[in-house]
Amino acid sequence: MVKINFIEADGSETELDVQDGWSLMQAAVSNGVEGIEAECGGSCCCATCHCYVDEAYLDKLEAANDKELGMLEETVAERKDNSRLACQVKVTPEMDGMTVHLPEVQS
Ligand code: FES
Repeated sequence: MVKINFIEADGSETELDVQDGWSLMQAAVSNGVEGIEAECGGSCCCATCHCYVDEAYLDKLEAANDKELGMLEETVAERKDNSRLACQVKVTPEMDGMTVHLPEVQS
């Protein structure tokens, strides 16, 4: 299990033990983290699972592919250098202890 800490825009925190191989979106949605909407269910076509990944961990994540980069152009909240789509980030042991901030709005 990999510890991931989700921090919502209002400051509320949820620390989860996530199974290796799950996406950040799956982990958040299945545990009631409200800051992720995930309207498309993880098909990389809605951008409502936008999140900001702890910059110290960015190089531990697989790079975003062209489809994700395209959808990141559609986020409602400000896109930042550490923006990712939570459905496209697969959890690996190297991410243990990572913090993920969620934007104020998704849609
Ligand atoms: S859930 Fe739709 S893009 Fe991630």
